Amino acid sequence: MPTNSNFTRKNKIIIIDFGSQVTKLIARRIRELKVYCEILNLQEFKKIRNFDKIKGIILSGGPSTVTSKNYPKIQKEIFLKNIPVLGICYGLQLISKIFGGKIKKSSKKREFGQAILIEKERSKLFKNFYKNKRSNVWMSHQDAVIKLPKNFINLASTSNSKFTAIQHIKKKIFGIQFHPEVTHTEKGYQIIKNFVLDICRIKKNWFINTEKNRIIKDLKNLLKKDKVICALSGGVDSSVAAVLINKAIKKNLKCIMVDTGLLRKNEFKSSLKIFKNRYKLNVKIINAKNVFLKKLKNIKDPERKRKIIGNQFIRLFEKEARKFKNVKYLAQGTLYPDIIESKSFSGSKTSKIKSHHNVGGLPKRMKLKLVEPLKELFKDEVRNLGRSLGMGNPILQKHPFPGPGLAIRILGKITKNRIKILQEADDIYINTLKEKKLYNNIWQAYAALLPLKTVGVMGDSRTFEYICLLRAVVSEDGMTAAKYDFSNDFLSLISNRIINSVSGINRVVYDITSKPPSTIELE
Ligand code: XMP
Repeated sequence: MPTNSNFTRKNKIIIIDFGSQVTKLIARRIRELKVYCEILNLQEFKKIRNFDKIKGIILSGGPSTVTSKNYPKIQKEIFLKNIPVLGICYGLQLISKIFGGKIKKSSKKREFGQAILIEKERSKLFKNFYKNKRSNVWMSHQDAVIKLPKNFINLASTSNSKFTAIQHIKKKIFGIQFHPEVTHTEKGYQIIKNFVLDICRIKKNWFINTEKNRIIKDLKNLLKKDKVICALSGGVDSSVAAVLINKAIKKNLKCIMVDTGLLRKNEFKSSLKIFKNRYKLNVKIINAKNVFLKKLKNIKDPERKRKIIGNQFIRLFEKEARKFKNVKYLAQGTLYPDIIESKSFSGSKTSKIKSHHNVGGLPKRMKLKLVEPLKELFKDEVRNLGRSLGMGNPILQKHPFPGPGLAIRILGKITKNRIKILQEADDIYINTLKEKKLYNNIWQAYAALLPLKTVGVMGDSRTFEYICLLRAVVSEDGMTAAKYDFSNDFLSLISNRIINSVSGINRVVYDITSKPPSTIELE
């Protein structure tokens, strides 16, 4: 595969994943420094024989405890290679254990959330980090180091854990109990920067323009004169993947767009226009509005909705794709987080790739090979890549949109009328966000239609209509999210606009829950 070439080529930082929810964020922070890095699980890491290109190793956090019998271990030899190592949370405990420290599980001393870190010794790792020897950090641990490992010094403490940051006296080996990769650690980014640039001394080597040229060259080499098909959803990932492949192989790329009738108002038409006129893609459209409506008739269960839509999509796509002769590849906009999520930290394949990137069992059934040109990139990097391909904001700045579309935002039964009501309300919401210049501050916003009717009064008459729920969240990758803080004025404005213009809705509510415990979508 073209995108695997970096594995042998680039100087890099390796992040060993011990299963933390936020390991991905470490990689993002390093990429933001324009340094190439890879996340590997233990199995992958153990296979490495040549360490020449590895300029630093980060051991992530994770749910395991070194106080148990069977805890994930790392080969001790890595500490003999003179490669700088930084252990975070579980990583710190593992380093401590390996070097003879003592770690204890303690329900009394556990720390979850914000803590104040107090400097004990100066260190390169903490350059420009403290203010008056203090800084706010984010903790999430139950185990704590209670005896320093041999040849280590203590760099910092919190009120609940004495050895919160440690450093080897001779080697470049560091451990920190808190999480510098999350934004709640006030200057966490500075620690990652100090480690990567000052301690590992790796040169900046990750530039999107260079990557674009490399990927196009690799695609040309891989695909040669072979034909490729691609399902275009109108979202950022599949669009950038298609434009990129089109640059490499031109007329041999055939795109298929399925109109499920479950997209936002005018979305299908406007995306199609951009693909055809602006990006000159070869697009075949399938109008399947009625088919989807029929299949979804009276279906209320969210999982059944998802399954029906997924299966129907594959069936239609497959039928159309067979009309193209001699197709060898299926293009997908799989991203790096999908790849990371699809392998567990212990190494077993869990196949959790999101459904929109994964057109079901299609590749196998049609004997197609997969081509995934974005599989080393994060979403923001894909947007930058799109920009460097000359693509514009209407596609690149779009909020994420789920594969099953409005079907999972119309709770309960899906009818033509309910789709229409929701499309109208959602259109007003999104346009108002754009008008008030809020759209780009928000990670994802949408309107949903609740299957409940409530009483209202309009003019002098009683109404009995649906409730519209509005959601807007800020997030880095959709794994966690917080509500967007609208002003009261905005909330009043949007409620008035929706109720005054959309017949069928007489009440608007704003969802203030975060993820977790809620999810971003309702179904
Ligand atoms: P949740 O609801 O799980 O959503 O918090 C996280 C992100 O994933 C999107 N999402 C989907 N995307 N197919 C998709 O393509 C799906 O079935 C699907 N379900 C959720 C959701 O919009 C959010 O961005």
